[in-house]
Amino acid sequence: MNLLIMGLPGAGKGTQAERIVTTFNILQISTGDMFRLAIKKQTKLGLEAKTFIDKGELVPDEVSNGIVKERLAKRDVTKGFLLDGFPRTIKQAKALDTMLNELQKKIDAVININVKPEVLIKRLAGRFICRNCGATYHKLNNPPKVKGLCDRCGGDNFYQRDDDKPETVKNRLNINIKQSQPILDYYKKQGLLYDIDGNCDINLIFTDIKAIIKNI
Ligand code: AP5
Ligand code: MG
Repeated sequence: MNLLIMGLPGAGKGTQAERIVTTFNILQISTGDMFRLAIKKQTKLGLEAKTFIDKGELVPDEVSNGIVKERLAKRDVTKGFLLDGFPRTIKQAKALDTMLNELQKKIDAVININVKPEVLIKRLAGRFICRNCGATYHKLNNPPKVKGLCDRCGGDNFYQRDDDKPETVKNRLNINIKQSQPILDYYKKQGLLYDIDGNCDINLIFTDIKAIIKNI
């Protein structure tokens, strides 16, 4: 089973992706996570990506397509995958079709999480992440069970993403709003799009997602 998860910054793609990959035993492929890892390791890719990410802009299509193509070519992808944060432009969506054709694979469903922009701004402002394992939390909506300790690994060192600063968030949202509609239309025409309300509780959203996945 091969899925895409879409939604504006802060919609909860990563939060739901974590639950989907565990429940359905598929791989999560997040372009944002791959870029952040490359930035941490200070690779050439990371240094290039950082100049765009820090401004809230999209990394050029050739670069994003390249890392996804490389990742999809790996053997573990045969168990199925969930793409998080890709495609983000129509060019990327078409490039993905070509990659999947070459691999004789296809997308089974595109899950789009709809959240109001004012809610997104609050979610991004309150997000913090475990430095050790990458688990994502929110100060008010989704804190760790024990204050100051990561539920998943017990770590006590958390950080906020550089691109969650208010000025950058505004730009990220504007750019993503502009780019996302044509992609949603593209998948809607193919009968692959499932729109869900992402303004509610994390567990309720996951219940909706599970129902969609079980039906495909
Ligand atoms: P990326 O990392 O993909 O960021 P994004 O799309 O901006 O989305 P986020 O990761 O910020 O949000 P999310 O939807 O995963 O929300 P989360 O689950 O964390 O990309 C980063 C950058 O990399 C891009 O800006 C771009 O520069 C570059 N990039 C990446 N892919 C690219 C591509 N294909 N092409 C070009 N450039 C690319 O949740 C957010 C917060 O809300 C958390 O605190 C969470 O706990 C909380 N929360 C989640 N769900 C709920 C809920 N239902 N109720 C209350 N709180 C909730
Ligand atoms: Mg994410």
